[in-house]
Amino acid sequence: MDNSHLQSEIRALKKERNAVILAHNYQRPEVQDVADYLGDSYGLSREAAKTDADVIVFCGVDFMAETAKILNPEKTVLIPAVEALCPMAMLLTSDDIVKARKQYPGAEVVLYINTHASEKALCDCVCTSGNAVKVVNAMKSDTIIFGPDLNLAHYVRKRTGKRIVPVPEKGVCPTHHQITLKDVEQARKKHPDAKLVVHPEVPAEVQDVADHIASTEGIIEYCKKSPGKEFIIGTEKGILYRMHKEIPGKKFYPASDMAICPTMKTITLEKVLSSLKNMQNRVEVPQDTAIKARKSIERMLEIT
Ligand code: 13P
Ligand code: SF4
Repeated sequence: MDNSHLQSEIRALKKERNAVILAHNYQRPEVQDVADYLGDSYGLSREAAKTDADVIVFCGVDFMAETAKILNPEKTVLIPAVEALCPMAMLLTSDDIVKARKQYPGAEVVLYINTHASEKALCDCVCTSGNAVKVVNAMKSDTIIFGPDLNLAHYVRKRTGKRIVPVPEKGVCPTHHQITLKDVEQARKKHPDAKLVVHPEVPAEVQDVADHIASTEGIIEYCKKSPGKEFIIGTEKGILYRMHKEIPGKKFYPASDMAICPTMKTITLEKVLSSLKNMQNRVEVPQDTAIKARKSIERMLEIT
């Protein structure tokens, strides 16, 4: 499909509004192509913290756009599709955190950035998949209340030796959790020379057989630098577009063809254009929540 007309309209409007487009690595190819910055949750929050644009158009899911707004309360943050909600972030409630704190007095609470502002406001520090180990190691307590991803909790537990208490008990990302050991074994049979590179949201047993585990940006970096020529990628399939574009001459195979995050894909070029044209779908976070959540996000940025 020829998207060039829509893309040039978006680029022209972006200039007029002094807007910047931040997009996650799972976005549709045509949306990635209009982004000023593409990255993982950590890179996107760093970029949001330093931009001097007046408007941030966030092509990602709700918690990412909320983080951008918390870091830029005076700026306009737009999310092109209001239905771009992360189902894993929805699993954790404030009540879960309050209860866990009562049950484990003295334990610090570290929350994955894939959470809503109301829960971030209740934690000691936020982390992303790229810095979770560093953040947990920087905490004083040996017991850490950690949520909402059970698989990321496994990754952190193995590398920090700390006692990790998951909240909620069984939170997972539906897109990553369905990548099975059988999937990667089959992919390895088909591509015996390929390295298996996965995201820490995949199930524990898949992590345990991987050659490398990293955030989406870390996966791209690893494949760029590795002397290997073939890679099985255990994360959302949208990342392959950027990998093929930026790493020519190497081959990438998805660990599972089913690994698609449906809500990430609700953002289309038409919706990006419409949100910029009408300045609609503004992200708002209540001020008292934003102030508390900001402390936890800034603590992460300081640690890392
Ligand atoms: P990254 O921070 O690694 O890009 O991950 C975000 C995410 O939602 C993974 O599912
Ligand atoms: Fe949320 Fe999973 Fe989609 Fe990432 S891939 S945004 S964790 S549902």
